[in-house]
Amino acid sequence: MEYGHFSEDGYEYIISEPLTPRPWINYLTNNDYCAVISSTAGGYSFYKDSRTERLLAWHGKNLFSGRPGRYVYIRDTETEEVWSPTWEPVRKKLNQFECRVGIGYQVIESKFKNIATEITYFVPRKESCELIIVKIKNESNKEKKLNIFGYVEWLIGNADNYNFHNIAILWNRVNFDKSLGSIIARKTASYEEYNIKNNPYVAFFSSSEKISGWDCNKEKFLGIRNTEASPKGVFEGKCGQTICDGEEAIGVLQHNLTLKAKEEKEFVLILGQTKGKSDASKIIKKYKNLKNTKKELEAVKSIWRERVDKIQVETPDPEFDKMMNIWIKYQLYICNMWSRSPSFYHEGQGGRGYRDSCQDAEGIMSLDINHAKEKMRRISKIIRCDGTCAPGWSDTYGSYSNRPFKDHPTWFVSTVSAYVKETGDIEFLNEKTNFIKDKWRNRGTKADVNWNQGAVCDIDATIFDAILAQLNCSFSDVSVHGIPRVGEADWNDALDMAGRRQIGESVWIGIALVRSLKLAAELAALLGKHDVGQDLLSKAETMKKAVNDSGWDGAWYLAGYNDDLVPFGSNKNKEGKIFLNSQSWAILADVVTPERLPIILKSVDKYLDGKHGLALLEPAYTVFDPGLGRIAMFSQGTKENAAVFCHAHTFMLAAYCKLGMGNRNYEQMCKIMPNKQKDMNLYKAEPYTYAEYLIGPDHPYAYGEGAFTWLTGTAGWTFMVATEWVLGARREFEGLCVDPCIPSKWKSCRIVRPFRGATYDILIENPNKVEHGVKEVFVDDIKIEGNLIKPHHDGKTHQVRVVMG
Ligand code: GLC
Repeated sequence: MEYGHFSEDGYEYIISEPLTPRPWINYLTNNDYCAVISSTAGGYSFYKDSRTERLLAWHGKNLFSGRPGRYVYIRDTETEEVWSPTWEPVRKKLNQFECRVGIGYQVIESKFKNIATEITYFVPRKESCELIIVKIKNESNKEKKLNIFGYVEWLIGNADNYNFHNIAILWNRVNFDKSLGSIIARKTASYEEYNIKNNPYVAFFSSSEKISGWDCNKEKFLGIRNTEASPKGVFEGKCGQTICDGEEAIGVLQHNLTLKAKEEKEFVLILGQTKGKSDASKIIKKYKNLKNTKKELEAVKSIWRERVDKIQVETPDPEFDKMMNIWIKYQLYICNMWSRSPSFYHEGQGGRGYRDSCQDAEGIMSLDINHAKEKMRRISKIIRCDGTCAPGWSDTYGSYSNRPFKDHPTWFVSTVSAYVKETGDIEFLNEKTNFIKDKWRNRGTKADVNWNQGAVCDIDATIFDAILAQLNCSFSDVSVHGIPRVGEADWNDALDMAGRRQIGESVWIGIALVRSLKLAAELAALLGKHDVGQDLLSKAETMKKAVNDSGWDGAWYLAGYNDDLVPFGSNKNKEGKIFLNSQSWAILADVVTPERLPIILKSVDKYLDGKHGLALLEPAYTVFDPGLGRIAMFSQGTKENAAVFCHAHTFMLAAYCKLGMGNRNYEQMCKIMPNKQKDMNLYKAEPYTYAEYLIGPDHPYAYGEGAFTWLTGTAGWTFMVATEWVLGARREFEGLCVDPCIPSKWKSCRIVRPFRGATYDILIENPNKVEHGVKEVFVDDIKIEGNLIKPHHDGKTHQVRVVMG
């Protein structure tokens, strides 16, 4: 069954059926405020951090429930019929329904009998609020009297306090403020890890239309033990003007509209959070004026359009183009803005993870250098003086504590190296930052005490110092095979018990470290630090040798050893015999020897490939293994337990491209592309944004189902694979390299890409049907030596013709 389609220009996805197999969602956001919204208006909103400053309640911790949300109820006073123009939560059958998922906005249009409604949702560019424009038309030939209710369910404050310690409800104080014409919701203090602080924030819910009634008390409005599907207040056609103190709180605004035959009316609901009431009042005043609201909507559309229109590709595959030209960039921005926490499907811890942020920044580098640079600066500030780092940070409560994710020190250099290649700005390496004074505090055994005490504290540092500290730390943080310790995670967060005693090792970290050491050596060379560079290269060689000596399993690379030195990702294991990441990264890091390369490629094909893509590992764990951790708790085929984990799948795509395997890459790329999924009742997830994973082949019944969409490193990596590797317009220190790796059936393709102050319009011709290899390159009709274009820095567009062969 089809649930929708892309608009002709591709910038909207039009959902035509309210009951999609899963809630299909959108993120409406500026840098401070975010509204997560489904196609039936479910979801929640937050300010700066999805856990600590949550405005709206969210009970959607599963894949199929889409409630509650920001709702509108309509009641026809004559017939007493009640419906929701967004279908949820009343679920009354509508005569027409359409949700247009836009880039930065969402429109839900519907018709019930003769009443047509169009509701537009968006978040303005700057203010911390969301705006809901409700347009309602009486298409009948007689006058209609309607009660219209705007409805939200407050959480206000820290979601943990609310979800785990229900006592936080007793902190609610919600009332209607006459002077503001707004419901005001607040908790007087905020409570984070036993630290109680005065809470300066107020949440508000207001309207541009005359307010005929209001309610703040959930139980009183819904009726005893009732749900939002059939609120008593709506069915009775009147609010009770209830305040709420220490109970579950809502915000309801009632409007009584009389619409003449064919008459249309429009008003705006304003929901947000500010420090104090006076800022709230400014926002309400501004957007009560519909002209301002509409002007702002156009401005929002145009900034998003500008963002996603940068870098364009044109290939024989329109689905590929739509994804890479529009939707993946939108997803990449959302990942960069909010990292992984504000999911619709599971509640995150808030904040931003270190490794995710490094990869997001690298992924967005060619699109938004300023965003990437600011993020790198922020990341550099959570590196400790001993080269470890805090696992992440939040914009509301600073950096997190000290869980040992031992892969973290390997990521930053890759991002910084990409930045220098994109911009040529070597000076950034000398930019001052500062280390966190604190060192990593061991949670565990004596084994690490020396290492933990070894570091010297040098608070002033440069970006390059931070990179060096990290890599030296990782290089010396090894265990019995000379391979880095795994601690409580490598890339794989679910290996959380593999190295608790600080003995277990990750072969994958060893491999990633080789790549990182080599990238750092290149940076050292740029700075003229040749001794440092030599040292880094010799460390890379040492680690490469350790991996090839102790990390090889006969036909593939191991994933690691646990604290009992039992290998995992080994043929010796009954389950989890082979892990994808050790193979893909052995290629990306040039760790694999020429003899072993065909062997690992064959093993990946034989054990991990399937019709829905490459599984993360095989076979899935069916028995819990306390020596590995939660990886073996997940049902087989889900999440890290042998799903087709799209982010990891994309590492392998990059590896295929590195090897010049254009056909293989494209074939695998298509398997996980959301808009290429044919059976939507199987795939279930949004066709316009990548899923974190597709359920893997070992699952008893759901192989191929997409899950946990939007917030995934897949966006950044896929975008890099598509633009830097497939279309091959790749940043290098010396300039822009053109090195396409395409399916051999593509006769030609094109990419237009800005690079160091000029634009390159690159036409790729493939007369000999090859998948890789460049015969000649012409820049503005002049043939150049090789395939590296020296930067022009002239603000002009240069025509490049690449002939493959
Ligand atoms: C999630 C996390 C990412 C991690 C991956 C595998 O996608 O955001 O950091 O690498 O899971 O555990």
